[in-house]
Amino acid sequence: MTMLVTNIKQLTGVREQSLLLRGEALANLPFVQDAYLGIKDGLIAEYGPMHTIGNRADAYDAVMDATGQFVLPCWCDSHTHLVFAATREEEFVDKIKGLSYAEIAAKGGGILNSAKKVEAATELELLRLAWSRLQEVIQQGTGAIEIKSGYGLSVDAELKMLRVIKKLKETSPIPIKATFLGAHTYPLAYKEHHQGYIDLIIHEMLPVIAEEGLADFVDVFCENGFFSVDEMETICKAAMQYWLTPKLHVNQLNSMGGLQKAIELNALSVDHLETMTARDIHDLAKSSTIGTLLPTAAFFLRMPFQPARDLIDAGAAIAIASDFNPGSSPSGNMSLAVAMSCIGMKMLPEEAINAATMNGAFAMELEHEAGSITVGKRANLIFTKPMSSLALLPYSFGSNMIDKVMISGEFFS
Ligand code: NIG
Ligand code: FE
Repeated sequence: MTMLVTNIKQLTGVREQSLLLRGEALANLPFVQDAYLGIKDGLIAEYGPMHTIGNRADAYDAVMDATGQFVLPCWCDSHTHLVFAATREEEFVDKIKGLSYAEIAAKGGGILNSAKKVEAATELELLRLAWSRLQEVIQQGTGAIEIKSGYGLSVDAELKMLRVIKKLKETSPIPIKATFLGAHTYPLAYKEHHQGYIDLIIHEMLPVIAEEGLADFVDVFCENGFFSVDEMETICKAAMQYWLTPKLHVNQLNSMGGLQKAIELNALSVDHLETMTARDIHDLAKSSTIGTLLPTAAFFLRMPFQPARDLIDAGAAIAIASDFNPGSSPSGNMSLAVAMSCIGMKMLPEEAINAATMNGAFAMELEHEAGSITVGKRANLIFTKPMSSLALLPYSFGSNMIDKVMISGEFFS
């Protein structure tokens, strides 16, 4: 099926080439005003201004009028924990009542709470839950996604999560990348015996993950009370032997050298970045590692937003992602993450959209198929409701400005 979309008010995010955007380039979101867009075989075939459309309609099976609408590339959500067994709203209420993180952990809350639930769930149950979340985020405009393990914390449960992600990959209409996050927290039995758990990761989990092709990336939660910088290095170096690229949780709660070590390990991205010193910002800006900001997690945990402006001004390449997970961001709505980037971090709408599309695609090595309106890329597209200008998208943060989502040339429903 081929389709020609006509009278698009603005075709936004058009690029001849995929480029990782940093500094001033992040504010440049190229567009064609009053445009047409041709889609063939699920891919973007051609586009241009309406006055050059000629008799193109003859070459297409269907023609669709998009008067008043903006068409942009789907969100590229490069950081999620989409596979989990249960929500954690009781912790949310406990926090409102004033309980501290330590008190919630003592009640059995936090990552270990999610791990208990994943342990008890079957692969099929996890798959069903994750599938319905995936449908929801696609409807909200996500057209490519990264998903982590990390609520297993045992050999069997980590592999179970990764096999669920593999099944999602095989059946999903959108591209998925898998990240092994066995090093999310120490299971209780290994609280005082870190090496024992690291041995399990290195000798029991990684070889099977490599054998079954279960992951593209490796992640470690590098924070005080979780994994140290040295432990992160050990785990990453072992995973790199199996060609897994590091993509790491650092600087959410502490600035303790995790970011510098991640850069030294050639990490694809460093994610969270709520707690950044001037040195951290400088080092990231000088590196080729992408800084992935998770504004909805900062919002949900009532933490200061990430220093997006300082990062952009220093020349760092930044991406925006949802961090969809039951503990710190129970929303995978990327339009909301984009709005919060503008509202809470003073990013321009163009910067936030670039960070959530082109740079997000780079942050999961999907830049060749997603993240921009480029001939040959997948036709994974957001069709907005009629809008007066692009800024209306983040401005209307509580309203759904998305009219339709197209995945590989078909409208998703
Ligand atoms: O990315 N910070 C570490 N991991 C998750 C949240 C973990 C949880 O509370 O379940 C995150 O925010
Ligand atoms: Fe996360």
